[in-house]
Amino acid sequence: MKEHWWKEAVVYQIYPRSFNDSNGDGIGDLQGIINKLDYLKKLGIDVIWLSPVYQSPNDDNGYDISDYYDIMDEFGSMEDMEKLLVEAHQRDIKIIMDLVVNHTSDEHEWFEKSIKKIEPYQDYYIWKDGKKGAPPNNWGAMFGGSVWEYNEERNQYYLHLFSVKQPDLNWENPAVRETVYEMMKWWLNKGIDGFRMDVINYISKDQSYPDGKKEKGEKYGNGAPYFINGPRVHEFLQEMNEIVLSKYDIMTVGETPGVTPAEGLKYVDEARNELNMVFHFDIMDTVDVVSDKWEKDRLDLFKMKDIINKWYETFKKQGWNSIYLNNHDRPRMVSRFGDDEKYRRESAKMLITFNMTLPGTPYIYQGEEIGMCNVQFESIDDYRDIETLNRYQKEIEKGREQKEIMEEIYWASRDNARTPVQWDDSENAGFSNGEPWIKVNPNYKKINAASQQEDPASVLKYYQDIIKLRKKKDNKALIYGNYQPVLEDDKQVFSYLRKYNGEKIFVILNFFGYNWEHNLEEGIIDYNHLELIISNYEVQINKKDTNFSLRPYEARVYRVK
Ligand code: GLC
Ligand code: CA
Repeated sequence: MKEHWWKEAVVYQIYPRSFNDSNGDGIGDLQGIINKLDYLKKLGIDVIWLSPVYQSPNDDNGYDISDYYDIMDEFGSMEDMEKLLVEAHQRDIKIIMDLVVNHTSDEHEWFEKSIKKIEPYQDYYIWKDGKKGAPPNNWGAMFGGSVWEYNEERNQYYLHLFSVKQPDLNWENPAVRETVYEMMKWWLNKGIDGFRMDVINYISKDQSYPDGKKEKGEKYGNGAPYFINGPRVHEFLQEMNEIVLSKYDIMTVGETPGVTPAEGLKYVDEARNELNMVFHFDIMDTVDVVSDKWEKDRLDLFKMKDIINKWYETFKKQGWNSIYLNNHDRPRMVSRFGDDEKYRRESAKMLITFNMTLPGTPYIYQGEEIGMCNVQFESIDDYRDIETLNRYQKEIEKGREQKEIMEEIYWASRDNARTPVQWDDSENAGFSNGEPWIKVNPNYKKINAASQQEDPASVLKYYQDIIKLRKKKDNKALIYGNYQPVLEDDKQVFSYLRKYNGEKIFVILNFFGYNWEHNLEEGIIDYNHLELIISNYEVQINKKDTNFSLRPYEARVYRVK
């Protein structure tokens, strides 16, 4: 297996709006990030993935970009960005930026000129005539409504897979691609270290734009089969790789909702020259009812094991994966996969162990390192996310009970992950001296970074330790090692071996809030050859004991001698 720095890296995602506010306007900013670089260095991360910081009217918190060459006023200036790069690099921390090029903001100059058919922008977006006064087809948009919005001035409809204020770029147009590549080079020449590519598998659309299948009771059809992994997506990415990516020593990760392992491999196969890795959504979907993220499902460990297996088996020869258990679009991992009350610490540490020992590059989402939890605001007025607000409106219009809708929001809203990072127990959790743009989770007095820095039993301390462990030279198996499942038929415990050049690491995780007992005489674990390297509990090693037991959410990592 080829060694690369981005395979060995631990990545930390910053959602700048909620990270740290340096000037008291209630909004996180670039200087706020600079102020926390030493904290991140101490955590042990190598790369920061910065969610969008470009100029934006913030319809979708920066994922609607109005100028790729400028910084959002609220976040600071280009000088601040340059300072952040210098300060991060001085600490040996790399920075990758979010590349959002499936769509722009409708306030982007390109779009304004496109409406007016000013060249070369006339065909920069996807414009179609209506069908007898109706939209060109029946597809529904990700944030509600039709994907088509009529523009009076141009007397045509434009396509937007996300909000009305996020028109999709027309990748069929070579001038669009060239412009995007130019912009990417501009940033890379500034010294950034790569890109996380937003919904990159949506950029190529089936040019016949057929109607999508309609589920019963739904107003709109499902267009996904016509834009997920569309006909020219690999051609476009190979072109991008040839013209831009291959010219720099960088890392790339594509966000690819709805990909299967076989499709995922096409994006990352080393022989195909596209991307380094993708974010697939399969692990996320294990606790949601299939295809409806608003509905909760019980964690089925067999399903999870199956997913890890399949992706590993498909990628092991010539691909590389990414591992994450939450991000700015997904609720907090400890609330989703663990127990955010009784066993918050234990389950957070167990999930951290999982994140740091599976094959692939691990991603930490801000606040994960201190075990931050989901939030439950009483009023919908305290929510900010466009997806949540649109969904609430739509369900109210359907006549559903408000209480029921709020329950779903508590489970699935993206704002669960977007409450401010809890730095200390002072007002607003030390995030801001002003009024935060979104309320702080009321549990910040109990859960915050400052108190955890001092506490040897804290989630933060555990994260620092396990990252250190991962980086030790004799633990390369955790990075490059192959993956071999153990106890596959156990529905409570997730266990595996990682092997590399004679090194062997054994991981065993109790995924549930009750004890687990195993008779060692069954021969699966040879206890005499295990040396414990980390655990989230105090472990008494008693070699004569034939009963191997794990406490609620217990995690252990052993070196096999
Ligand atoms: C991606 C982003 C999400 C955003 C969407 C549209 O899924 O992660 O936050 O809303 O793309 O840009
Ligand atoms: Ca600020």
